[in-house]
Amino acid sequence: MSGVRVEVASPAGVKLAVATLAAGGLVVLPTETVYGLGADARSELAVARIFQVKGRPADHPVIVHVLGAGDLDAWAQEVPDYARALADRFWPGPLTLVLKRKASVGEIAAGGAPTIALRSPSHLVARAVIEQLGSGVAAPSANRFGRVSPTTAQHAIDELGDVLLATDLVLDGGECSIGVESTIVDCTGSQPIVLRPGGVTESDISHIVSLAVQGISDADLEVRAPGTLAAHYAPTARVLLAEPVEADAVINAAPSGEVGLLCLVDFEPTSERFVHRLVAPGNVDEYAQDLYAALRRADQLGLVAVVAVLPPAEGIGVAVRDRLQRAATGSA
Ligand code: TXA
Ligand code: MG
Repeated sequence: MSGVRVEVASPAGVKLAVATLAAGGLVVLPTETVYGLGADARSELAVARIFQVKGRPADHPVIVHVLGAGDLDAWAQEVPDYARALADRFWPGPLTLVLKRKASVGEIAAGGAPTIALRSPSHLVARAVIEQLGSGVAAPSANRFGRVSPTTAQHAIDELGDVLLATDLVLDGGECSIGVESTIVDCTGSQPIVLRPGGVTESDISHIVSLAVQGISDADLEVRAPGTLAAHYAPTARVLLAEPVEADAVINAAPSGEVGLLCLVDFEPTSERFVHRLVAPGNVDEYAQDLYAALRRADQLGLVAVVAVLPPAEGIGVAVRDRLQRAATGSA
């Protein structure tokens, strides 16, 4: 049973979170994308505990959350003009910038890498915590390594409740509005490279700056953003992917047992086989918001498989497809 404290994200809750972080504790806190497992980024011991609690390899770097573009130079040694333009346009929001790191800061958060990932969240609770702490908050998603990210405080408690201490804290700020993790953009070269799709799309970015056209290979991605690859975001149920036209065939071919269906509300399967409709999002934004809760629900129901009918690759649909592909790889 978990002994971790849970507080609503009221002004008093935020104060307690700040005191917890300042004392070297960990705080699960809401952001607009997913819940993070936060530590004071200045505290090597607290940041090291994030890795221990998540079961995350020490060389998988974590994002440092800051208030805004004014903090770039405190963490980064070199900030190209295009990176500043991206921060000016999309911060606060679901965009993480990877920059060359100042040697004197963030070594543990960066997993020893010469770079640092920075994000300015828009969630008011996360912002209040960062502002009152007066430091960056190092925070990966608040799930065990390789598992589905939490979009409610209860999900984070289900993931980490038994490994957090009574001196740590969970701040409950309700459901996350975006539902999938931030877009990560590598800004260490002459042009930006998208390492992970998210709420800020490639087309949003290319309105501001030109993107490096060349896509990156999986091997290169694993080097540039350890932990973004394959076998991630996986529930226990097998995840089977389908474009709408092939969905009935995939449902019919799914392993025997109870099967869940994840699809937009207007998709109607014609297969005779019974499926649990896990969510019925009306558009890609709702699909992103509901995605991880639906995968968790599949496990709670003990389903053998989930047939995920992929949304169109538009807007945040690109990120939903990416996460589903990784969930399918991880559960195969
Ligand atoms: O929306 C988000 O980004 C959420 C919320 C809590 O802010 N955070 C999140 O953190 O998704 P995490 O640790 O689950 O994923 C961060 C990703 C990892 O895949 C890691 O490889 C990449 O960011 N990353 C972190 N620091 C990096 C660096 N210095 N260079 C390249 N990639 C980095
Ligand atoms: Mg994560």
